[in-house]
Amino acid sequence: MTLTIENRTLSALQADLELLFIQNKDIHGCEDSALLQAIGFEGNHGTSQLLPEKRRFYIGLEKFDANNLQIAAANAVKALKKFKYTSVKASSSPFDAQSFKAFCEGLILGDYEFTHYKSKKEPTRLAAITFAYEGTQFSDFETALTDALAIAAATNFTRDLVNTTPDDLYPLQMAKIAKDLASEYKLDCDIMDEAQFLDEGMEAIYMVGRASRHNSQLIHLSYKPKNPKKVISLVGKGLTYDSGGLSLKPADSMLTMKMDKAGACAVLGIIKAAAQLQLPIEIHGFIGAVENMIGGDAYKPDDVLTAKNGTTIEVRNTDAEGRLVLADVLCYAQEKVKPDYIFDYATLTGACVVALGLYSTGVMGHNEELKASFALANRPSGELTGALPFNDHLKEELKSEVADIKNVTGRWGGALTAGLFLDHFIEEENKEKWIHFDIAGPAYTEKPWGVHGYGGTGAGVRLTLAWMQELCKA
Ligand code: BES
Ligand code: ZN
Ligand code: ZN
Repeated sequence: MTLTIENRTLSALQADLELLFIQNKDIHGCEDSALLQAIGFEGNHGTSQLLPEKRRFYIGLEKFDANNLQIAAANAVKALKKFKYTSVKASSSPFDAQSFKAFCEGLILGDYEFTHYKSKKEPTRLAAITFAYEGTQFSDFETALTDALAIAAATNFTRDLVNTTPDDLYPLQMAKIAKDLASEYKLDCDIMDEAQFLDEGMEAIYMVGRASRHNSQLIHLSYKPKNPKKVISLVGKGLTYDSGGLSLKPADSMLTMKMDKAGACAVLGIIKAAAQLQLPIEIHGFIGAVENMIGGDAYKPDDVLTAKNGTTIEVRNTDAEGRLVLADVLCYAQEKVKPDYIFDYATLTGACVVALGLYSTGVMGHNEELKASFALANRPSGELTGALPFNDHLKEELKSEVADIKNVTGRWGGALTAGLFLDHFIEEENKEKWIHFDIAGPAYTEKPWGVHGYGGTGAGVRLTLAWMQELCKA
């Protein structure tokens, strides 16, 4: 489906169907009010009504924040796809540039379907939506649309990767996807194979992947525009499958664990959109792509692993593998690049889902101002976040009897103790630059919510890009 905007009157556009907005349930103001009232359409936010004989499609809009606009647009596009119209036109008049961007993002996100594994694909007829713009700020609206298309496409790209099965998207394949992005957008891409991990002192990531038939990969993908305003490192957990290892997950919890690569997929999506939009920020993506399996080669509870910065880790549960992978990748990233910010993305803990629910990303770190800036980025992005506060008592709980630290703690505060585990691998000079995003809740869904259907959601992509766009304005 293509989305375009033209600097013309609505009547000058040709289309099968006209899309009209009812704002704040003001049904009386519209030409078809009698008809709409007769069929009981009230214009509630996110609801829609087709008048086939008039070739008009009404959408109710009441809430103009990004999240609600995206949802209304996604609902509308899902409804439109059930009809046989191929082209649709609408006026952009209810929107300013910012809200237009959100609405367009919602249209593309709502149009998303993952049909790769379906033997029969339902054809969709809806091919084009064109907006008419009449005013003096046309270029602002064009920019809004360009941004929306890049951000929504990157989100859908991330969703595709998350939805791909572990047998199709294994670590080497993740490296190939990074290389393909590199050739498409002229990025740099360095790949390290597990054969080099031990020479690099990275025993933690090495041991997590040892039982897998797939070779673990450490991917460094970088986008380097000329004269960047800032340098940002993004670190992603890329567990292409998390069986739990010898601390095997129960069958019900193992299901959906193809999504344990969602952090890595978000990093790839963010870099894709940033490169496409040519943001003036140098971005380095570091991904630990690993499969956590069982077998004679598996690492064990009781093992002690030495991470790249020399920290020794007592393994008490092989299912707390993400933090082991990230430990080495964080060390590696900080050695390679001295950034202004370092963010990591990980489906790290079930405890984060208990704390914040399925819809919000857990935001952790030492820099209160930086954490707050992500709460602000919620609004334009449509994503939801919740900050979880570190404290020194929880940090104490990571102490081990046999090594420097252990990879699991007691029952409470599991999202925070996982975050504090990662803190052991953040260098002193980077403490204030670092944010840990636990996306275990929102990265994947088994029931539709917001703009999402079943499967990967692209959590972290819109949030970070909105934050980066704000950074570019400053
Ligand atoms: N990948 C999981 C976390 C997860 C759980 C992501 C649910 C998405 C949905 C992670 O590797 C894990 O297994 N964590 C354990 C940690 C525990 C052993 C301390 C968990 O959360 O149960
Ligand atoms: Zn696990
Ligand atoms: Zn995991």
